[in-house]
Amino acid sequence: MILVTGGAGFIGANFILDWMTQNNETVVNLDKLTYAGNLASLASLETDARHIFVHGDIGDRALLKSLLTKHRPRAILNFAAESHVDRSIHGPEDFIQTNVVGTFHLLEEVRSYWNGLNATDQADFRFLHVSTDEVYGSLGSSDPAFTEMTAYAPNSPYSASKAASDHMVRAYHHTYGLPVLTTNCSNNYGAYQFPEKLIPLVLMNCMAGKPLPIYGDGSNVRDWLFVGDHCSAIRAVLKAGRVGETYNVGGNNEKTNLQVVHTLCDILDELQPKKHGSYSDQIIFVTDRPGHDRRYAINAQKILNELGWKPAETFETGIRKTVTWYLQHQEWVAQVASGEYRDWLKKHYTDKNYTERTA
Ligand code: NAD
Ligand code: DAU
Repeated sequence: MILVTGGAGFIGANFILDWMTQNNETVVNLDKLTYAGNLASLASLETDARHIFVHGDIGDRALLKSLLTKHRPRAILNFAAESHVDRSIHGPEDFIQTNVVGTFHLLEEVRSYWNGLNATDQADFRFLHVSTDEVYGSLGSSDPAFTEMTAYAPNSPYSASKAASDHMVRAYHHTYGLPVLTTNCSNNYGAYQFPEKLIPLVLMNCMAGKPLPIYGDGSNVRDWLFVGDHCSAIRAVLKAGRVGETYNVGGNNEKTNLQVVHTLCDILDELQPKKHGSYSDQIIFVTDRPGHDRRYAINAQKILNELGWKPAETFETGIRKTVTWYLQHQEWVAQVASGEYRDWLKKHYTDKNYTERTA
């Protein structure tokens, strides 16, 4: 079996759902169920014995020890993290606790477990750490895309905490021989994404007739990848990635934020037209995110050359699937729009730094 951490979050839940369609191997899912964790995303597995959910923290050493002893996983996939850049700006401490300290505790318990395995099981074991392209910092408009050799230059408390965890993972391989793999992926979108992130936030606000807040002038660039493609990349790296290596994962879909929001509005105008005007009439420009990285772009040549992985979706096909999913799953959106989430929106978007301004 495999142990997945953070499997009730956006990418973790998609990964588990995809995994179940691919093979019969049991998944133990350890998740703290923070505001971002949502078991409703895994409701279809409620009666599936191949999914074992454990409510807990990756920093809980006693729990980790007992889970590893009991289930004896052949691999651990670490998705668990605080993942939202804006939240890391408002309050970095949780990011240090989970992304840095939590990953350290997880690595320590995994090292102890791995040391106790026989030589064959040790050789077969993998610790796959799911990381981000944000650790590489920000690109200028004509800079080449990030490769695995690009120096780390994280700019937000979130990306700094992920960079720290990546370094610890690397050190556990170099020092102790733990068979680790790291993936650095670009911006994901798709079903079950918490509506604090740009794409689900815009979709939710479109449907609710609320403003669509664009930071700065909307010309920051992200490289968008459909979440199902990220899941297939992780499976490919787990299966055949070279131990100790890092793999960049990206969609070759560089878009400005304004292009993304206009695309969402155009698809909604077609699928669920408003009585008057376009959803794009709801766009407003708000004060920029502090330290806002200008551009991310991934060079995914290594994973293509070594593992034959490339994305199945273009931005155009993936984004249409995503909009359709959100339109068909309004009850999921309503369920996640909890009290805590409403408090976040109020705090963040009415903060003096995030007020509406003219473009
Ligand atoms: P998410 O915020 O949607 O989900 C995170 C999950 O981790 C939640 O279920 C939460 O309850 C759980 N969690 C948080 N702290 C925990 C702890 N201490 N112990 C156990 N569980 C805990 O995040 P996501 O967007 O699904 O991202 C998953 C991973 O992928 C993260 O490591 C993130 O850095 C990375 N990543 C995300 C993206 C993206 O675009 N979303 C892109 C590249 C990499
Ligand atoms: O690049 C990978 C990263 O992508 C992941 O590591 C992070 O976990 C994930 O959250 C994401 O980070 P971003 O900061 O790029 O994603 P977010 O959806 O928050 O923002 C995308 C872009 O949209 C970014 O340039 C900021 C902008 N934005 C975001 C929000 C929430 C807006 O203009 N308005 C908004 O209201």
